[in-house]
Amino acid sequence: MKEGLADLGHASCDAIVLDIGVSSMQLDEAGRGFSFMRDGPLDMRMSTDGRSAADIVNEDDKDDIAHIIWLYGEEHKSRGIAAAIVRRRDERPFERTLDLAEVVERALGGRRGAPVHPATRTFQALRIAVNDELGELEAALDVAESLLKPEGVLAVVTFHSLEDRIVKTFFNERTGKVSSGSRYAPPTAKAAPALYTLITPKAVAASVAETAANPRARSAKLRAMRRTEVPVPVAHQDTKIGRRHRS
Ligand SMILES: C[S@@+](CC[C@H](N)C(=O)[O-])C[C@H]1O[C@@H](n2cnc3c(N)ncnc32)[C@H](O)[C@@H]1O
Repeated sequence: MKEGLADLGHASCDAIVLDIGVSSMQLDEAGRGFSFMRDGPLDMRMSTDGRSAADIVNEDDKDDIAHIIWLYGEEHKSRGIAAAIVRRRDERPFERTLDLAEVVERALGGRRGAPVHPATRTFQALRIAVNDELGELEAALDVAESLLKPEGVLAVVTFHSLEDRIVKTFFNERTGKVSSGSRYAPPTAKAAPALYTLITPKAVAASVAETAANPRARSAKLRAMRRTEVPVPVAHQDTKIGRRHRS
């Protein structure tokens, strides 16, 4: 963002809106390989470079695949799914989205009338891993505070709990709700002045009317806060939020 803004001849801005994740266009276009509902190449890249989802399921170690599905999909049956993936790829590599969706569905014992497709969490996990979505989100949150003018607004729309947890933690930290200092540092007399003030005391969800008009908004959460006059402390360089989501 910093470079993008500089290219436009600006060093700061009045507001930043992050509407993160995948777009309907990407989900609906089978050729992008994001959907477990449409047959397409098993890709999931938001840009055209880097490793695709097929690269991960065809090349990575079984435990690494299980870890991705557990960490980014919050899928409890991640080990069983990873084992099924490895068994199948030994016969022939994965190339298509429906191919993977069927293997995951079978590994979970079929759909059994479940409201959401059994492959939902696995596909979300692979997409997050392929696009380092949480790393990108953290980087954007960090850089935003140095780009916003005083009174500038940061608004973020998230679509699942992993994203919202990162945003909520960042908001709490930067509004002084929780100390961002190192636990090794001696207790400081005064908490660091807040870099932001909250606009949304808690996450704003889509209204019933909006969700009826756009079912994809059902999991959307909006959080917003306003930048104060306080300059970005150098110390923030060390307590980058980046480390939180990797375990
Ligand atoms: C939820 S969609 C935004 C939809 C858009 N606001 C609209 O109303 O049509 C998120 C978009 O962010 C893009 N995106 C994903 N990761 C990105 C990143 N790291 N940097 C910039 N854009 C990214 C995706 O390609 C996708 O088009």
